Amino acid sequence: MSSNQHSGSTAGELEVVNGFENPGLPEHKPRITDVEPAAEKVAERQIAAWFLLSMVGTIWFIVSYFLFPLDGQIGSVRMQNTMLGIGLTVALFSIGIGIILWAKTLITDAEVSEDRHSIPGSEEDQAIAIEIFNQAKNESGIARRPLIRNMLIAAVAIAPLPAILVLRDLGPLPGNKMFETLWGPGVRLCKDTGGVPSVETPIKASDVTIGSAFHVIPEGMNKSEDPLNEKAKAAVLLMRVDPEQLNTKPERESWQVDGIVAYSKICTHVGCPVALYEHQTHHLLCPCHQSTFDVTNHCKVIFGPAKRPLPQLPIKVDSDGYLVAQRDFTEPVGPSFWEVHTRETESR
Ligand code: FES
Repeated sequence: MSSNQHSGSTAGELEVVNGFENPGLPEHKPRITDVEPAAEKVAERQIAAWFLLSMVGTIWFIVSYFLFPLDGQIGSVRMQNTMLGIGLTVALFSIGIGIILWAKTLITDAEVSEDRHSIPGSEEDQAIAIEIFNQAKNESGIARRPLIRNMLIAAVAIAPLPAILVLRDLGPLPGNKMFETLWGPGVRLCKDTGGVPSVETPIKASDVTIGSAFHVIPEGMNKSEDPLNEKAKAAVLLMRVDPEQLNTKPERESWQVDGIVAYSKICTHVGCPVALYEHQTHHLLCPCHQSTFDVTNHCKVIFGPAKRPLPQLPIKVDSDGYLVAQRDFTEPVGPSFWEVHTRETESR
C-alpha cells in the first residue's frame, strides 16, 4: 500500500497522483491550530478537559451507586437510575466530544490516496503497514501530546468501571428466592393500582366479568419488608374466560373459579411484565420481545422467545366471596433458569 498526502496542493497539481485521477479535491486549507501554536495549545487543553470531565462522570456513577442505595421504594430506584444515568451520559458523551475535537482541530486533515492491496500482505506490505501506522501516530500527535494521550488513556481506563458495578447487581444467584412469593393459602387477590405502596382492594369473584382482566397483587404486600421486590415476583394477571373455551389440564381443574384464572405477570423470557391482554383471542402479549401466551391453553407459549408457559396461581373463593390463593406458585416465576427443571420435577 502506498499513500500520498495532498496537503497544500491545488486541484490542478493533483491531476494524476499514483495512477489516480484527481476526483476534484479542493485546495487544502490549514486550520488555525495548524499555523498558530497558541491556538494549538488551547485546543489541546480543551480536549484534555473533555477527557477529564469524562472521568468525573465515571467517578460520579460509582459514587452515586453507593450514595443513593435502593431501599425497596420506587423513589429510590428512580433516584439511583437518574444519578447513574447522569454519570454514564457525562462519561461517554465527554469522551466522544474529546475525540471529535481532537480529530477536528489537531489530527491532520490532509486528503490522501491509497492503493488497495491483496490479502494476506507480504513482508514488504507489512513493513509498509508499520510505516503507515507510525505515520498515523505522528500525524495524530499521540506521541507528541502526552497531556491528551494520558488523559484519554485514563478516561478510557476507568470507563468500564460502571459496567463492573452494574454486573455486581446480577449476583448473587437467586437460590430459592424465585420459588417463594407472598402468595400462600388464603391470601386475597387485590387490584394493583400501580406503584409501591399500592392501595390493596380485594377482588370478589363477582367483580370479574367474562373478557375482563385485572393486574393483581397479594394482600399484605405493603407490609412486607421489601414490597418492591415482593411485587416484582408476586404480580399476577387475572382474567375470566368462558369456561367452555378453557382447555384445562386435568390436574389443574380446581385451580380456576368458573373460568377465572390467574397467571404470573412476569414473562418467562427475561422477566418483563406481561401487560397486554387480547380478550378476543385470549392471548397475553409481552411488550419486550413479543412472546405470546395462550390463556385458554394454560398460558403455553405460542409465539416469541419465551421457553415455558407463565406459571399459574391456584385460586378459589373464600366464604366472603373474595378470590384467594390456594397456595404459592408450584414453579419459579420469571425467566427460565437451570433450577426450574429440578423444582418442576419435584412438584409433580
Ligand atoms: S421478556 Fe417477554 S418476551 Fe422477552
